[in-house]
Amino acid sequence: MKFFIKTFGCQMNFNDSERIKGILKSLGYEQAQSYEEADLILINTCTIREKPDQKVYSHLGEYRKVKEKNPKALIGVCGCLAQRAGWELVQKAPVIDIMFSSFNMHQLPELIHQAQAGYKAISILENPPEDEDRLWEYPTVRDNHYCAYVTVMKGCDKNCTYCVVPKTRGRQRSRSLESILSEVKSLVEEGVKEIHLLGQNVTAWGQDINMHFSELLYRVAEVDGVERVRFTTGHPKDMDERIAKAMGEIPQVCEHIHLPFQAGSNRILNLMDRGYTREEYLEKVQMLREYKKGITFSADVIVGFPTETEEDFEQTLDLIEKVRFEQLFSFKFSPRPETPAYYMEEQVPDEVKTARMERLLNLQKKILSEISKAYEGTLQEVLIEGEEKGKLVGRTRTNRWVALEGPEELLGKRVLVEVLKAHPYSLDCRLLSVLP
Ligand code: 5AD
Ligand code: SF4
Repeated sequence: MKFFIKTFGCQMNFNDSERIKGILKSLGYEQAQSYEEADLILINTCTIREKPDQKVYSHLGEYRKVKEKNPKALIGVCGCLAQRAGWELVQKAPVIDIMFSSFNMHQLPELIHQAQAGYKAISILENPPEDEDRLWEYPTVRDNHYCAYVTVMKGCDKNCTYCVVPKTRGRQRSRSLESILSEVKSLVEEGVKEIHLLGQNVTAWGQDINMHFSELLYRVAEVDGVERVRFTTGHPKDMDERIAKAMGEIPQVCEHIHLPFQAGSNRILNLMDRGYTREEYLEKVQMLREYKKGITFSADVIVGFPTETEEDFEQTLDLIEKVRFEQLFSFKFSPRPETPAYYMEEQVPDEVKTARMERLLNLQKKILSEISKAYEGTLQEVLIEGEEKGKLVGRTRTNRWVALEGPEELLGKRVLVEVLKAHPYSLDCRLLSVLP
């Protein structure tokens, strides 16, 4: 029996898919090369904006053809759109045999069983079940052998007025320290060097179990064999001095943070209910720069939130110029059903959003080319993660992609390189030495 998983959305979803693959492997399934040869096709969906919603229907249309050749093949849908749309999705696409939410991935074995017996196996839960921690008993199956995601919390307790996540992933639940450390230890034993802690709101880890995210950073870095630590996504509101200090003190924590600001205008930040002002955001950036020398920033930003004026938007541009992000993920505001922003008056017309987005992208392009130029001639530490087009590839501690010539034996090693030439999204480098 073979499975095929198509994943949309964020790293959380990708990590969920890695866990689902682990569940399927434990049931004796093998990974198919293409969906055509699969006995079980799963789509792990995203619903953060309107676009990913639509993609699911076109994929279902394609995948249903598999059933013509192999009537026993099963089609499943899981993830955030499944959670949000539930039965509505099955009504629109009766080809679906299995559906589960982000709360009950661990029930997949039972659901497959039901579907094989000819029933529609649909289980969308309103709330996380008591036994959701059973999920951690399964291993993950990863494509990258040296850098691994580790989910440390689920859900989100913030109430950003544009966002569906609290609805699709529920209240914030921190995974226990023991469970996280045990996964980290077994990953390191498998040869993983870089641990990337994941959560919708990872800097809030511990708040519901009387612990603090900084403690998690120290404990993970203490595990023998952990050479690098990263985390995503940080929330500016929870980003406090304890975390900044830990980042500075722990050598394994890389010089990079993804810290979405979403908007540069205080009026819009307030309407978004983000819980900080632009001044506070900039202060936190400054604090991080002081504690963690050489740190680089990336962020998410939304363009065209309801009521956004030209002045508001200029504040966003101004913030971008002040911080000088290495990478910016920018999104046109997409009204999501059942979120407060969906119902706000004075929605910004699409042409305005598009025009502002273009200006933002042009500014970012200019900043990025200046930042990139400054890399030329510098020395960087790179963890070699894989091979592409005959070259070794990896990332700098500041999260830049690097390509270089070198022998295969360097896979999984940290090396020192000299940057020869900078492209907007990657750096050509020359190998200097292998680091101990
Ligand atoms: N419209 C546009 N962008 C959104 N994001 C979240 N919700 C919306 C929405 N309704 C963006 C935010 C978030 C990223 C994952 O997606 O910038 O940080
Ligand atoms: Fe998409 Fe948000 Fe779900 Fe991630 S958590 S898959 S971004 S809706």
